[in-house]
Amino acid sequence: MTIPLSRVGVVGGGQMGAGIAEVCALAGLDTLVCEADAPAARAARERVATSLERAVQRGKLDRLSAEDALARLVFTSSLDELADRRLVIEAVTENAGAKTELFTALDKIVEDPEAVLASNTSAIPIMRLGMATGRADRVVGLHFFNPVPVLPLVEIVSSLHTSARTVRAVESFVRDALGKTAIHSRDRAGFVVNSLLVPYLLSAVRMAESGYATPADIDAGMELGCAHPMGPLKLADLIGLDTVAAIAGSMYEEFKEPLYAPPPLLQRMVQAGLLGRKSGRGFHTYSG
Ligand code: CAA
Repeated sequence: MTIPLSRVGVVGGGQMGAGIAEVCALAGLDTLVCEADAPAARAARERVATSLERAVQRGKLDRLSAEDALARLVFTSSLDELADRRLVIEAVTENAGAKTELFTALDKIVEDPEAVLASNTSAIPIMRLGMATGRADRVVGLHFFNPVPVLPLVEIVSSLHTSARTVRAVESFVRDALGKTAIHSRDRAGFVVNSLLVPYLLSAVRMAESGYATPADIDAGMELGCAHPMGPLKLADLIGLDTVAAIAGSMYEEFKEPLYAPPPLLQRMVQAGLLGRKSGRGFHTYSG
């Protein structure tokens, strides 16, 4: 028997958390989103509403389903409200200290001993998060891809302590409840997709940094020459340059492989607040 993961909590309502909350609500799940404070909770609701509206405008969703999904979502700034959840998905900033503290707190708050605590981390060890709780067997990685409502993949990451029962439960959640496709990865920084994607993105940053080609030409090269939906620097801007740097940093810390070391230009851009789409400027400039 698998554990039915019907009451879902999402911690963090940024682009990943809001996307995860949206797909859970669209799947008809009772979904509670927790943000740091009331303005952040309002911003998270706005993010979901904007994305649902976009789906309606693109003919992907009828208006009634969009309204139902939004009505199904509850936004809060109190972690304590997650007490009755069967599954909590953490999607806060890619910072190991912040995530570990959160897992320790969630372990105390979430009452159901069967409940699963999942992380949307891209590169932080699931074992580290599991060991911050008293239920490492029910801690697992559920790594979604941006934009979550559009991309069908979820990586399921098991630590050495994650139980087979937990894996079966989240597999069923991903496939049967969300209608997405799961792949499995061992608990090593970068999992499957970022182990391939991050060196590619960093190579593009190094190419721009050296003046070898312009960001526009690098992106056009991969869009028009290889049919990628967006070039590597546009994709880095979409993911967020701070997030790319944090993922690369975790991968470098784990493997000490120069391929994963965040290039100086990326670090400087993050220090300058040039974070990509979310700040209006990264390798490209964005309006609206
Ligand atoms: N809800 C539902 N569907 C939506 C939507 C929404 N909110 N927004 C857009 N869509 C649909 C559109 O209807 C469209 O569908 P069709 O192709 O069937 O018409 C499709 O998504 C593309 O949307 P748009 O036409 O608006 O935009 P686009 O063609 O410029 O594509 C994009 C935008 C989806 C972002 C595309 O460029 C893309 O897929 N880029 C690559 C993204 C990627 O690689 N993401 C992975 C990042 S790595 C990661 O996330 C993990 C990590 O750890 C770093």
